[in-house]
Amino acid sequence: MNYPKADTFPQSVMRERSMGPNPLKLCEELLGLADIPAGSVVLDLGSGAGLTSALMARACGYVVYAADLWSDPSDNMRFFEECGLTNRQAVPLKADATALPFAHGFFDAVVSDDSYNYFGRDARYLCEHLLPLVRRGGELLFAIPGMARDRHDDLPACLLASWTPEQLDYMHDIGWWRANISQTEGVEIVDMCEMACTREAWADWLECDNEYAAGDRAAVEAGALTYLNTIAVRLRRR
Ligand SMILES: C[S@@+](CC[C@H](N)C(=O)[O-])C[C@H]1O[C@@H](n2cnc3c(N)ncnc32)[C@H](O)[C@@H]1O
Repeated sequence: MNYPKADTFPQSVMRERSMGPNPLKLCEELLGLADIPAGSVVLDLGSGAGLTSALMARACGYVVYAADLWSDPSDNMRFFEECGLTNRQAVPLKADATALPFAHGFFDAVVSDDSYNYFGRDARYLCEHLLPLVRRGGELLFAIPGMARDRHDDLPACLLASWTPEQLDYMHDIGWWRANISQTEGVEIVDMCEMACTREAWADWLECDNEYAAGDRAAVEAGALTYLNTIAVRLRRR
């Protein structure tokens, strides 16, 4: 696949700021599923070190609120400035996804890369915390690390080479996520599909020089990507 937007970022920056499989490629493929116009106000939920926020603000012309729990918003702001972005284009904030400080209907869209499975596994999350913040007709796009088929009662040894059963419980298949999201009224499931860039995104991640990437190598080298995928979810608020 081609990634003209992701490719505007140097490899060194991608490697330094990734917190999982190449967020830039995942984000670019995810955005390609929808048609969110420039000027839209977008929540980057669980934005991590700001790569996806910078991509959306710089390459798509969105006004991006980069909300994350673990990352330092001051560090993200410096990164946005290095990307040539102002605080009117990308707004970094520390926020818990279950207590987001925004008015109802504030966002035109939500994008969440490699994060929704931290808080969205509780099926009440979407209707209680996130959906009200999106205007009617607004879109929600999630790239969720998942499983081709849930097999938590029979976990393949290759997955256990890097992760515990508790960590693997954050990963589910499309059917599981469909059942989770279907419990929320007022939202249309426009599309749910496996993402094409998963293997490439993982290969980029494993080249990163950090302890988390190093820890994930054993499983992938043992064949984990036979069982894992990335699930793209596109929703529209009714
Ligand atoms: C694997 S990282 C992905 C970060 C980024 N989206 C990326 O792709 O590089 C997961 C992110 O989810 C965020 N996260 C986890 N629980 C959260 C919560 N309750 N509220 C907000 N962010 C949360 C963490 O702060 C972390 O940055």
